[in-house]
Amino acid sequence: MLSNNGTSRDGFSSKFGVIAAIAGSAVGLGNIWRFPYVAGENGGGAFLLLYFACVIGIGIPVMMSELIIGRRAQSNAYGSFRKLAPRSGWPVIGILGILSAFVILAFYSTVAGWTLEYIVQSVSGNLQGKSNDELKGVFEGFISHPWRPLLWQGVFMFLTAFIVFFGVQKGIEKASKIMMPLLLLLVVALCVRSLTLPGGAEGIKFYLNPDFSKITWDVVLKAMGQAAFSLSIGMGALITYGSYIQKNNRLTNTAFQITIADTSIAFLSGLIVFPAIFAYGISPTEGPGLAFIVFPAIFAQMPAGTFFAIAFFILLAIASLTSTISVLEVFVAFLAEETKLSRKKATAVGAISIAVVGVFCTLSFGVMGDVKIFGKTVFDLFDYSSANILLPLGALLIVLFTGWFLGRKNVKDEITNGGVLKGRLFLLFLFIIRFIAPVVIIIVFLKSLGLINF
Ligand code: PHE
Repeated sequence: MLSNNGTSRDGFSSKFGVIAAIAGSAVGLGNIWRFPYVAGENGGGAFLLLYFACVIGIGIPVMMSELIIGRRAQSNAYGSFRKLAPRSGWPVIGILGILSAFVILAFYSTVAGWTLEYIVQSVSGNLQGKSNDELKGVFEGFISHPWRPLLWQGVFMFLTAFIVFFGVQKGIEKASKIMMPLLLLLVVALCVRSLTLPGGAEGIKFYLNPDFSKITWDVVLKAMGQAAFSLSIGMGALITYGSYIQKNNRLTNTAFQITIADTSIAFLSGLIVFPAIFAYGISPTEGPGLAFIVFPAIFAQMPAGTFFAIAFFILLAIASLTSTISVLEVFVAFLAEETKLSRKKATAVGAISIAVVGVFCTLSFGVMGDVKIFGKTVFDLFDYSSANILLPLGALLIVLFTGWFLGRKNVKDEITNGGVLKGRLFLLFLFIIRFIAPVVIIIVFLKSLGLINF
């Protein structure tokens, strides 16, 4: 269990455990639910290119920065800055991260709850043989139901809290180790299926043939937000997990491996969704419901569809769970290390308070559908602002901190494991986190807000 005295801190026990846990955090609804719907709304192929660019130019450097900060400080997302930069303003990054965790988990648990409903729907054979319109009806009927989505959201928050409750090694690492390899297998199987659908070629074109006229600064911002969201960066989840990584782990390799795993799964998810959309005549701009209409449509018309549907929604629920535990862990590690609460009490406080806010997100598809803030429902506002504002802002501050404040020696020490490794990419990394990443994030922010013109 986690202890506050710094001597027997809990942590990940093996290299594979580290990869599984961090990849577990990264791979989730962001890849399979959010990526296709945002890519579909923002031009397909052009979005994909921008997304890749953000993953490489911003994603990897920020991920490394977070792991460096966490492992250096051996503390939570707030405590790490307090330790490394005492009596300064930097710990505000931790506060921002905790706010992001709150906002993300509140709406993420809504969608994670949907996956549970769809497991039940699949098991009961309810989705089989239905037309697209009927499937859309099932989805809309469910999300606007007065209590069913709330029930599932509650169940999901409970499952998340249950795993976090048992601590890092016993809970998070063990869960991820079993779940991750299974997930990849199923995604690949579905990919094969979708790519062989008659009429899917149009979708492959939409997805892989960039139409550059679709690129606007708003699309760039959304690609950046999606990259940050999908890689779990910008809020301290990877600072927290970084603090559980052993000193001999090669952080650069870890960051690359996780980024490749996460980006591949998002890419494959697009390869499943877009051919199917075009084969079945569904609109790519369907919005947050996209995955919950397209995937059932694939299963409804495929042999052994019920079996694949059950496997898929279980997979999606598990992938979501390995992500939600990392989000809740940010808040719990903070409470357990910075306040007098025990880890168990911290878990309860965190999960319950987030669940309460989450209710409003879930109800925005039903009774609270007319409640709009800045022209968006609560769900849309949380989804939009976390990915496109909070995470990029957090990412910006994190690279600035690592590049300009943490000190060359500290950074090099973490990258080379105290001089054991060569750290060939060190100077490139330093250049990117000092100049490229911050400048790009700032320009994209200002441009998409219309604050600068050139
Ligand atoms: N990366 C997760 C996903 O793709 C979501 C997440 C965001 C998790 C931020 C932690 C921090 O589903």
